Amino acid sequence: MLIIVGIITFLFSIICAKLPLVLPKQNSIINFDDIINSTSTEGVAIPFNYGGLSWQNVLVLNGVDYDIPNAGFITGVVSPKYVAFNGYGNPMSISSASGSLFTINSFYSCAAWNDNISVEIVGKRSGDVLYRKTVALLIHTRIFVELNWSGIDSIYFNSTCKNYCDATHFTIDNLNVIL
Ligand SMILES: *[C@@H]1O[C@H](CO)[C@@H](O)[C@H](O)[C@H]1NC(C)=O
Ligand SMILES: *[C@@H]1O[C@H](CO)[C@@H](O)[C@H](O)[C@H]1NC(C)=O
Ligand SMILES: *[C@@H]1O[C@H](CO)[C@@H](O)[C@H](O)[C@H]1NC(C)=O
Ligand SMILES: *[C@@H]1O[C@H](CO)[C@@H](O)[C@H](O)[C@H]1NC(C)=O
Repeated sequence: MLIIVGIITFLFSIICAKLPLVLPKQNSIINFDDIINSTSTEGVAIPFNYGGLSWQNVLVLNGVDYDIPNAGFITGVVSPKYVAFNGYGNPMSISSASGSLFTINSFYSCAAWNDNISVEIVGKRSGDVLYRKTVALLIHTRIFVELNWSGIDSIYFNSTCKNYCDATHFTIDNLNVIL
């Protein structure tokens, strides 16, 4: 009898040891497709707390119905119909709406108007730079940008051209985050 109790206790302790105390947080894909219903190609500001985040100068537009040929807004669409982009080609940033730390795993991106714009991406916590990466973007080729940046409270994007160009807009779709 004691032996059976002992075996059961032993098995139980193995099972318990394999169960994590805290369930891992799940990835979520922010696809920007459920914010507005319009064919607007003008760009609409992403509302505060969408996806649990705060969006500074991040706009969204309908890329599928975009009516200017050869614009990267069409290339940028992964999940139809909407893509996010940096308003007016200016720097944009995303931070936690609640103040808690988050992870940015990845997103898809391309240039809207000019080839070879470069986007500097910086991940910060409490103002300290934890991560930095620069990507070059083209209009007709969308790239997968994989960061895996965890423990940040904000991420900054600043796009520039090597030589003068008139617009440094770039797209973001299917942003993979863990909040
Ligand atoms: C957009 O339209 C679809 C289909 O009519 C609807 O399910 C969805 O809730 C609408 N979204 C918004 C943000 O209005
Ligand atoms: C972009 O970069 C590629 C590779 O460096 C180069 O072949 C191409 O000419 C560049 N295009 C522009 C518009 O600068
Ligand atoms: C990001 O994480 C994924 C999943 O763990 C891994 O497959 C990938 O190699 C990582 N990429 C980078 C750039 O760290
Ligand atoms: C963006 O980059 C440009 C060129 O490197 C720089 O002059 C500017 O200060 C940067 N802006 C931000 C907000 O980081």
